[in-house]
Amino acid sequence: MQSQLKHVISADQFLDRTLLDKLFSLAQEMEAHDTNGKYRTALAGKILATVFYEPSTRTRFSFEAGMMKLGGEVLTTESAAQFSSAIKGESIEDSIRIIGGYADAIVLRHPQTGAAKIAAKVSPVPVINAGDGSGEHPTQALLDLYTISKEKKSLDGLHIAMVGDLLYGRTVHSLLKFLPLYKKITLYLVAPAKLQLPQIYLEYLKKHKISFQQLSDFKSILPKLDVLYMTRVQKERFADPNEYEQVKNLYVIDEKNIKAMKKSAMIMHPLPRVTELSPKIDNDPRAWYFRQAQNGLYVRMALLYTLLCR
Ligand code: CP
Repeated sequence: MQSQLKHVISADQFLDRTLLDKLFSLAQEMEAHDTNGKYRTALAGKILATVFYEPSTRTRFSFEAGMMKLGGEVLTTESAAQFSSAIKGESIEDSIRIIGGYADAIVLRHPQTGAAKIAAKVSPVPVINAGDGSGEHPTQALLDLYTISKEKKSLDGLHIAMVGDLLYGRTVHSLLKFLPLYKKITLYLVAPAKLQLPQIYLEYLKKHKISFQQLSDFKSILPKLDVLYMTRVQKERFADPNEYEQVKNLYVIDEKNIKAMKKSAMIMHPLPRVTELSPKIDNDPRAWYFRQAQNGLYVRMALLYTLLCR
């Protein structure tokens, strides 16, 4: 697996069952590592730079914790737009060239779609896309897929709904790219008209013959779902605050409507949540979002090991 990956820019790079199986098997080993310490010094002497131009809780901390658990060290800037020389006008290319001289890999989050690809072109070390605007978030999709695969064994035949902000939702854009790897998936795309999935992704689903329906409400489909993938309507992506106000509370899962769902259903969310998941469902066994975030640590450890332990 090592030789196949240099940078991690898009979920497209992982459309290979053998590659995914190896990565997920390694992620399971990383989960066991907390008790057996097998990989405690695997990345000793290596440095990871986490360069975040947008806020993060899960992605940054899980990469940093993962690096430390593997014996490596971390350089970080959590508000790179203010606290790096970007504020003085330095280009992303120049920043990445310089940081690549100090670190062995760079995890980059940036508000501009395509920023990770631009960074990878000039970087002397691996670049991992930790979210590029409304483009992609491939490591989130990997941990999402890992979480579903562990519970359901396969995505074959599942009824999956992606709900909320499908227009700007980069986690959805990355996750749906994996669907052609599986058979007979039924996909429901639930969003208000203004936040529906961009045409390029609809074309992708059509090209790969994924059966999908676009809906503006999810009540009628809740009983059919195996996986409900909720997303936050992202206030920060709206130029007009009034438009955000109109759509912000359209889809909420609470202790009433969860009753319509199968006992075996998985409710997922990349987090952070705002109002779309009531805290009253957090203890329901169908609420997977905290376990999903925990899996992010193991999947990212597996990725770091794959990229850096050569
Ligand atoms: N899911 C996710 O990307 O969360 P953060 O923004 O907290 O990293």
